[in-house]
Order: sequence, then structure tokens, then C-alpha cells
Amino acid sequence: MQKRVYIETYGCQMNENDSERILGILAGSNYLETGEAREADLVLINTCSVREKPEHKVYSALGRFKELKEERGAIIGVAGCFAQQEGERLLKKIPYLDLVIGTHAIPQIPQLLQRIESLGERVCETGFDRDGKYLSLTVSPSKPKVKSYVTIMQGCNHFCSYCIVPYVRGREKSRSSHEVIGEVRRLADAGVKEVCLLGQNVNGYGKGREGELNFSELLNRIDEIEGIERIRFTTSHPADLSEELIEAFSKLRKLCRHIHLPFQSGSNRILKRMRRGYTKESYLEQIESLRKISRSIAITSDVIVGFPGEEEEDFKNTLELVENVRFDDIFSFKYSPRRWTRAAEFEDQVEEGVRHNRLIILQGIQKEITFQKNLDLVGSVGEILVEGRSKQSDREVSGRTRSNKIVNFEGDLNLVGKSVSVQITKAYPHSLRGEIHSISDCG
Ligand code: 5AD
Ligand code: SF4
Repeated sequence: MQKRVYIETYGCQMNENDSERILGILAGSNYLETGEAREADLVLINTCSVREKPEHKVYSALGRFKELKEERGAIIGVAGCFAQQEGERLLKKIPYLDLVIGTHAIPQIPQLLQRIESLGERVCETGFDRDGKYLSLTVSPSKPKVKSYVTIMQGCNHFCSYCIVPYVRGREKSRSSHEVIGEVRRLADAGVKEVCLLGQNVNGYGKGREGELNFSELLNRIDEIEGIERIRFTTSHPADLSEELIEAFSKLRKLCRHIHLPFQSGSNRILKRMRRGYTKESYLEQIESLRKISRSIAITSDVIVGFPGEEEEDFKNTLELVENVRFDDIFSFKYSPRRWTRAAEFEDQVEEGVRHNRLIILQGIQKEITFQKNLDLVGSVGEILVEGRSKQSDREVSGRTRSNKIVNFEGDLNLVGKSVSVQITKAYPHSLRGEIHSISDCG
């Protein structure tokens, strides 16, 4: 009998991709996805624990799903970094929870469900898998999609002092290029036009696999795949960014001119305490090289404010860097102590009020820059890959520029999946509006 699975995902793109992989493996066990928790036989919450916020969401979601257990006997499970972090503790805390699946345990889901269904057990699986089998799971889209994530590696060897990733995702492990290229080909055959290659540190791709391609070589190979029009990747670490990769931005036609390059802090003293392995000066040199290769390249970044020991002067350095570089956008976070990390033990934690105020100041400055950059685009013509209906209006469709900016314009759903030349007519703080110039089928 066909069963239904409902999955809620919080956190990063890596988690979204894991959710797709979970759905892929469950499809093989006769589970079909539903968008309605009320009709699900299996309810999963997939959450990241890199920062504090998504954790709160898990508990509130679990509260909402309690009655599904009571009324329908649905199986309730938690997956992702948070499940990895909490393990058995989560089963003890939430008496109606049936399943805790760690980051490497996704391939075991069918067997774990069987144990729950036939033996009535409550199951927790958070072991690390040294063979990297968890990476081999592929995504095959059940509905036609314009863009798709492809995980190329998982884990991280950097051990930045604030970050939980190496503890909950394990050490860096790359998927074989043969598998990655095969998955991209299948996605292209299924109509996908844009792929985003995912890893915590994509620049480290291939390391530790003898004879494997490096990241730039992998990009070259993906650039040759017919049907794929756009390639993106995330995330790059400034300490590992190679000249070869910077040059790829001028060489590869399909590689979108956008890089997400987290700098975290503009203060060398704080960067050292964060164990980031670069300085403000070397970061700025990389920005210069990137802009020399591609004048219009979009650059986005991650920033943490209120890291332990951050003084006013350090924070000013961060603001200065943001004002100098003029990022297209930044993702900024208040530092939150994470289990197992070094920084959580530092004694000079910054008060919540100070962290909060710094975040507001930083976000205010970036908001102006992002808006100004959007205003600068008014009048220009760009290629938009249409992704679907716009959230604002039924008469509009929505897509992104190659530099990853959202553009809404009047048009019908036949345009989805097509590349459309659009003139920008209006700028908003987080999006653009435009009108059609011309349409092409092949991008
Ligand atoms: N506190 C706040 N932000 C964090 N990040 C990672 N760990 C923490 C933490 N403990 C941010 C970093 C990273 C992004 C994914 O999350 O900016 O680049
Ligand atoms: Fe975390 Fe640092 Fe690795 Fe990024 S590079 S995942 S911040 S440890």
C-alpha cells in the first residue's frame, strides 16, 4: 500500500538537498511525498544545528506534530545535524518521537523504518560512515524542475573555532566525479537547466581521493554537459580559493559570475581566534583578483558579529570591510555558542544586547548597499532563467539573473525553464522588476 511522507526542512541548502535525497530513498520504499502533514504516515523534520535558531524550530514543530501521532499513529522522525548532535537524548526528551537519523544514516532509513513498523522500536542511528556511502545517494526529481542542488562533498576539516559542522557532518569527504557527473547528466535529461554544486568547502573537492579531479577540473567537465545552462557552487573558503578557480570565472561559459565567499570578520585578531587561516588583507586581495577577472562578478558573504572577545574596534573593522567591498549581499549572524566548539569555552563571551545591536547596525549598512546595487541595474538588460510563478502576482513569473538576483516580470507559465532577456525597470531592496526584451529556448 502506498504511504505518504511529509518533510519539513530548516537550515541550509545542504539540508534541503538531504531532504530531497531522503525523499528519493523513501520513494523506493513506497513512500510518496505529501505537502500536508495531516495526511502523512511518516513526518520528518530535517534541521541544521550550525546556528541556534533552527533548533528552536524543531521543538515547536515537534509540538505541532504530537497530535498526528495520537490521532493517526504517524511515525515521527528528526534528521540532520541537529539529530546528529542530540542523538539518544532527543528520544528521551520527546516520548512520542520514533526516529532520530544522523547525517550519515540517510541510506539506512528503509531498514530503520522497518524496525519501527514491525517491531515497534524507537530508533536512533547517528554513527559515522567511513566509506562515504551516504554521499552516493542521488536525487532524481519527481516533478520537473528548473534547478537542482548536487552534493559533491560533505563535512569539513577546517575546525573554525565557532563551528559545529566538523562534529555533526564529519571530516571532508568527496563524492566521486564519476557519480557527480552522472547525476548532473541525469538531471539535464530530466529538464534541469541549472545546478548548484554543494559542499561545506567545495575548494577542497577531490582531496583524499587518489587520482580524483580537483574542483576546477570538475567544473570544466560539468560545463561540457549538454542541457545544463548554468552552474553555481557554494561554499568557498578564502583559505582554499585557488588561482585556477578564480580563472574559471573567465573561462567557463556556464559558470555563473557569482561567488559566495564568507569572510566572517574584518578584524585580523578575531579571524585568528576564529582559526580562519587568512587575514583581512589577503581576503581583500582575492576580491580584487575576482573583480579583475570579471568586473561584474556578484560577491556575497557570511559574517558573524559578537564573536567572543570582539571589541568595538574589531566590529568597526568588519563594518569597514563591508563598506569597502560593497558585497551584493551578506548573510549576517549573531554569534551563538555551539556544543563541542572551542569558542563556546572562551571566557570573554559578548553580551546578548551588544551582539544584537551590532547585528542591527551591520544589517542596516548592507541593506543600503544591496538596494543601491539593485538601483544601479535599472535600465540594464540581463538573461533571466525563469523558475516559476512570482510570489507577488499571478500575472508575473520569477527568475534569477546569472548574478543570482531575483527578477519578476509579466509573463505566463510557458516561460518556466526558458532563458529570457529582460530589461530591468525597477529596483526594490531584495528584488528587481523588469519587462521582456526577447526569449530564447537554449539560453
Ligand atoms: N554562531 C553564529 N554563526 C555561525 N555560523 C557558523 N557557526 C556559527 C555560530 N556558532 C555561520 C557562519 C557560517 C554560516 C553557515 O553560519 O557565518 O559561514
Ligand atoms: Fe564550519 Fe569553518 Fe568548516 Fe565552514 S570552513 S563548515 S565555518 S568549520
